[in-house]
Amino acid sequence: MPVKLFSGKVCENSSVCWPKFNVKSSKISIKMSVRRVAVVTGGNKGIGYEIVKALCSKFDGIVYLTARDEQRGLDACKKLVEEGCQNPPKFHQLDIESKESIERLRDYIKAKYNGLDVLVNNAGFAYKKKSTAPFNEVAENTMRINFTGTLNVCRSLFPLLNPHARVVHVASMAGTLSIIRSESLRNELTRPNLTESELVALVQEFVEGAKTGDHESKGWPMKGYAVTKLAINILTTIQARDRPYDKDTDVLINSCCPGWCRTDMAGQSASKSAAEGAETPVFLALIPPGQEQPHGKNYSELKERSWK
Ligand SMILES: NC(=O)c1ccc[n+]([C@@H]2O[C@H](COP(=O)([O-])OP(=O)(O)OC[C@H]3O[C@@H](n4cnc5c(N)ncnc54)[C@H](OP(=O)(O)O)[C@@H]3O)[C@@H](O)[C@H]2O)c1
Repeated sequence: MPVKLFSGKVCENSSVCWPKFNVKSSKISIKMSVRRVAVVTGGNKGIGYEIVKALCSKFDGIVYLTARDEQRGLDACKKLVEEGCQNPPKFHQLDIESKESIERLRDYIKAKYNGLDVLVNNAGFAYKKKSTAPFNEVAENTMRINFTGTLNVCRSLFPLLNPHARVVHVASMAGTLSIIRSESLRNELTRPNLTESELVALVQEFVEGAKTGDHESKGWPMKGYAVTKLAINILTTIQARDRPYDKDTDVLINSCCPGWCRTDMAGQSASKSAAEGAETPVFLALIPPGQEQPHGKNYSELKERSWK
């Protein structure tokens, strides 16, 4: 039975595709023959580690813990086993700043599973509050990891998404539109027909402006991390708009804020544990098949929240 893939291609050989569900009866319409696969970026510590841990117990399939540093990733997998994880994750190296590393993961997943069912873009970076790094460096480095790295992962892995796939971007409440000072820039960033490449150009304008020192006169704030997360929230709406819900493909793409969590990034005085921070991303990653919503939305504390 041919199955329509997210890429729009039709797979004639159903034995290599995650089967379609009979949405009305919630019964699987053809026999399952392939194990489902989830990939989590930045899984070696913090919220990503807890997302992997929760998926290992709740996701019906193979979970890949990915990390940019192989040893840190393997150590995290070992730690999960020591903590009693019954369905331990597999490991694959992934540095989202490296296109080569992204392509290696894509080729591996394609060759081994020919598809992907869950993608959690968790990997992220923020300068510490006490950092004295110049703003141009903050803007460039944070954007390269949080936005460009995540976008490159999406561009590489989206063609592998199987029917019923779930994509979750771990953004932040810091990424709200109100950080943008200029009304015309706010209007541009939320223009309904803004394209992915136009968003990339706007983000580049921010990074270049931070170098020349005129980003504020163009309406951008002195906030590197927050702008990267706003860009991720905008990207989420663009990706969902460009891939409207279709009951055959049934792919959902959303972003979320995990809350203020005790991790290396946010420090130990934060209000939530990393495990609590994993709850919303895991909820979005495990939305059952056949639900039209949420798609292109932002969630926090398991509820939809507007970043506009
Ligand atoms: N903690 C919070 O309060 C909070 C609030 C809102 C949003 N968030 C978001 O939640 C996500 C997880 O944050 P966290 O608090 O768990 O931070 P964390 O403890 O610092 O963990 C960040 C993870 O991202 C990985 N990473 C960084 N750059 C990478 C790259 N180029 N390629 C692959 N992995 C990379 C890190 O790997 P290394 O160990 O190799 O550095 C680490 O595994 C981030 O996207 C963050 O922005 C966190």
